[in-house]
Amino acid sequence: MAFLADALSRVKPSATIAVTQKARDLKAQGRQVIDLSVGEPDFDTPDNVKQAGIEAIRKGYTKYTPVAGIVPLREAICGKFKRENNLEYKPSQVIVGTGGKQILFNAFLATLNPGDEVIIAAPYWVSYPEMVALCGGTAVAVQTRLEDGFKLQPEALERAITPRTKWVVLNSPSNPSGAAYTRDELKKLTDVLLRHPNVWLLPDDMYEHLVFGDFTFVTPAEIEPALYERTLTMNGVSKAYAMTGWRIGYAAGPEKLIRAMDMIQSQQTSGACSIAQWAAVEALNGPQDFVASSRKVFHERRDLVVSMLGQAKHLKCPSPEGAFYVFPSCADAIGRKTPTGKTIETDQDFVTELLEAESVATVQGSAFGTAPNFRISYATSNKNLEEACARIQRFCASLV
Ligand SMILES: Cc1ncc(COP(=O)(O)O)c(C=O)c1O
Repeated sequence: MAFLADALSRVKPSATIAVTQKARDLKAQGRQVIDLSVGEPDFDTPDNVKQAGIEAIRKGYTKYTPVAGIVPLREAICGKFKRENNLEYKPSQVIVGTGGKQILFNAFLATLNPGDEVIIAAPYWVSYPEMVALCGGTAVAVQTRLEDGFKLQPEALERAITPRTKWVVLNSPSNPSGAAYTRDELKKLTDVLLRHPNVWLLPDDMYEHLVFGDFTFVTPAEIEPALYERTLTMNGVSKAYAMTGWRIGYAAGPEKLIRAMDMIQSQQTSGACSIAQWAAVEALNGPQDFVASSRKVFHERRDLVVSMLGQAKHLKCPSPEGAFYVFPSCADAIGRKTPTGKTIETDQDFVTELLEAESVATVQGSAFGTAPNFRISYATSNKNLEEACARIQRFCASLV
């Protein structure tokens, strides 16, 4: 009898974490590695939020909380949805989890039966298909194209829907492409779903605040109220408030689903960390200037990276609307040789050789379901980005 569960054969380790580890190993050997593989803001958590955490400890808010989260946080989340998304939710329609990850995982665990399908636009965040598989469902990846800005097209969505489709996950702005949907683009997708009353929608709005210029973020339930009853809108404080380590994510949706997720969480982790919940109350209710200032910094960095990669041979790099990633195509580098005589056959080879030759860590597109591409996270200083992009230019120019 095997000791490890069959479920393990259904999941892969995270490719992004593997690259980050390799970059760390090279650094430990003394190499000047620039790590562009990390998916978290390089800023510190804002001071007012840290203070709220410290205050919570001082006040003794250090005990178990309700499974779905403390009432002040669920009220703050309702306030956020009203203020920023024009969506009405009651605290009983909201659940707080240990990061957005737990929210997604429990939503799938609460709803998926074997054979149930979850539609995910590729390139996708690495964890979606793995979570779906762990929960016994089947992930259905729908390819998008660079020419469409890596956005899911309504016809492609329509074609992918089957009688087994339970969820459509929609991540805007996207990890890894940075693509964000306009109101019109989203409306075309929600129109498709109106024709399929059994399909639920799971918008992952984790990067909501990181959109640039005059782009306006919108979430599907706001655009199509008819979908409100079958939409679970997921969000969190990790990226917007540089709080990745605090582990607070949340979602709002129909009470029946929230209750099912609450039941699972009650036998799993119970309520999220009490201190982090109080810090999240301050993040959502307190001053919002951090959000605007980090958006400005990321906007500048996006422009810097897109412009410098635009000058690299063999790369094609669209300028995405948001998040802190770009997802260039390296199709024109495939089949070429490095100065050491290695042939670049895949995007995995491209990122491996780039790391070897120039000590720049990125993640191959195939890990996100779209190849040959690679993901660059620009959540690092402008100085690092300039140096890294110059190295990428040099590496690309060396390919023959
Ligand atoms: C698209 C997307 N959704 C959800 C998450 C999970 O966020 P959290 O750190 O709150 O679990 C991430 C984190 O990388 C992400 O990129």
